[in-house]
Amino acid sequence: MNTLYTITLVLHSWNRWIIMVAGILLIASAIKGLTGKSGYSLSQRRLSLIFISSLHIQLLVGLLMYFYFSPITAEALSNFGAAMKSPVLRFWSVEHAFVNILAIGLAQTGSIIVKRKDDDNAKHKSTLIWTGVAMLLILVMIPMGIMGVERPWFRF
Ligand code: HEM
Repeated sequence: MNTLYTITLVLHSWNRWIIMVAGILLIASAIKGLTGKSGYSLSQRRLSLIFISSLHIQLLVGLLMYFYFSPITAEALSNFGAAMKSPVLRFWSVEHAFVNILAIGLAQTGSIIVKRKDDDNAKHKSTLIWTGVAMLLILVMIPMGIMGVERPWFRF
């Protein structure tokens, strides 16, 4: 396997866990904030920063693989029409990439909206909605069988 492909694939694979843990903690903290009527805390702001930063890294590494290193997307891009007839090539070249870009856009939009709100309850509510929808899309597109494509949970 090409070295740069291996490095980016391993990075992308492990960074998915940072995204998952940060996203789940962010959703849990918003629920706790809503039910306990507590203020929007500094740790929530930090968690949101970790979530958004790890998503940006995932997007960057994903794009590098998509256009330069992945032999799978290279094959798909060389004959896009034929690739659309293969569920695996279609998953990587269209579904995984585009739905995740949409999810990252939603998470980013949500974090901007949360920052602009003054009321803590509204901050919790927006965090819950925007992060919740983004995480749902991300979860469906993680290759763990839901879309018929499976990859190792932990890549070494
Ligand atoms: C939150 C967003 C994302 C998550 C959680 C995610 C997760 C993953 C996972 C778990 C894999 C499998 C890694 C492995 O085989 O060990 C993968 C592969 C891949 N992802 Fe993503 N990804 C995300 C976003 C993106 C984006 C936005 C792009 C492209 C624009 C992208 C492009 C790819 C490519 C090209 C592969 C590798 C296909 C191959 O094996 O050659 N990903 N992704």
